[in-house]
Amino acid sequence: MPKVWIERILNEPELYLLRVDDDQVKYFEAAWEIPEGITYNAYLLKLGNAVVLFDAWKKDYTEEFIEALSKLVDPKEITHIIVHHTEPDHSGSLPKVLELNGYRAQLIGTGFAKKLLEAFYGSKVAENFHIIKDGEEMKIGGKTFRFITVPWLHWPDTMITYVVEDGLMFGCDVCGGYSIPEGIDDINEEVVQKYLPYVAKYIVTVIGHYHKYIVQNMEKLKKLGIIEETRMILPGHGLIWRKNPKRIFEYYEAVGAGIPKKGKILVIYDSMYGFVEGAIKIALDELKKHGYNPVVYKFTDREAPPVSDILGDIPDSEALIIGASTYEANIHPRVRYVLYEIVDKANYEKPVLVLGSYGWGGVAGKEIETIIMKSKFDLVETIEARGRATKEDERRIREGVKKLLERLNK
Ligand code: FEO
Repeated sequence: MPKVWIERILNEPELYLLRVDDDQVKYFEAAWEIPEGITYNAYLLKLGNAVVLFDAWKKDYTEEFIEALSKLVDPKEITHIIVHHTEPDHSGSLPKVLELNGYRAQLIGTGFAKKLLEAFYGSKVAENFHIIKDGEEMKIGGKTFRFITVPWLHWPDTMITYVVEDGLMFGCDVCGGYSIPEGIDDINEEVVQKYLPYVAKYIVTVIGHYHKYIVQNMEKLKKLGIIEETRMILPGHGLIWRKNPKRIFEYYEAVGAGIPKKGKILVIYDSMYGFVEGAIKIALDELKKHGYNPVVYKFTDREAPPVSDILGDIPDSEALIIGASTYEANIHPRVRYVLYEIVDKANYEKPVLVLGSYGWGGVAGKEIETIIMKSKFDLVETIEARGRATKEDERRIREGVKKLLERLNK
């Protein structure tokens, strides 16, 4: 049985969190390894003559959602359902809620959200749907609900809701993260510290392809005064931000912009028989001599790290070193896949040094160069050796690392 949280967040207005901890999911979106799991958060706001539900849970947990919801309200009494984003991890249990509600509630969302709900669940679900305009305000239960579109966070349908009188921002994917935090909010610093790397991993794997829109949308929320005024952020995944809501906005902005942490160099390589590893060890030694802190991911005949973890480590790295074997006149398949995902999901302006090893012909280096040249990454140099690195190769690798570091200090 999954853990279900029904927590009263505020007394006035009467606000509840409905959270389920999904510890069964292994690959989010059937792609991203998340042994840490994820939570789905919905919220219920009771306002006198109005009962407002904000999003829902994944379809797999429909039964649990209805049971939890029914402890707070008879589903028939829900007057409004705000649909911030229709990806089924938030909308999957809505059809059942609406069925039990007798389709009385008015759904509120973007025009795109309406289209997607119809496509996913049939037209009846979206029969009573109010399409918002960006910045539109509605009075519900005596409160002012402001709806702001934030396209591509994470789909074109996405919006946030800001309850003006109470400074509450409901964000769905916005300000969310992976993992199952031990608490519900940011009150405990230890919980927050453990959680934040999973936020970076979430941003890159889920929203990373559109990361420029993170910066743009945060700028939009800043201009509207939302970031300054918000008292509480209520996302669709992970922790609620009530002690320091600004912190998660700033974190999102930093990940979106790829702001580096001083001294962090990400090193990713494969090594089939130890030759690439030999070259990488020289580079690591040179990095350490200069006081840098390499974070290393390696693919060998004994290990294969989760690609989603590698992606999550890119935004705050200063630079990358990629090591690859030439494999059947191409890049080693593991590194090829990682590289493909890096330029798709974590395409930042960061310098890259490429190291490689080959047997009968060096191809991986050229192939990597071609991929890097088409991305925002900045290729510093490619150094390949036949088999193990010779003394001359070692000199070239050390020089290559120095060039990489010079690029950082320009
Ligand atoms: Fe959490 Fe894009 O859904």
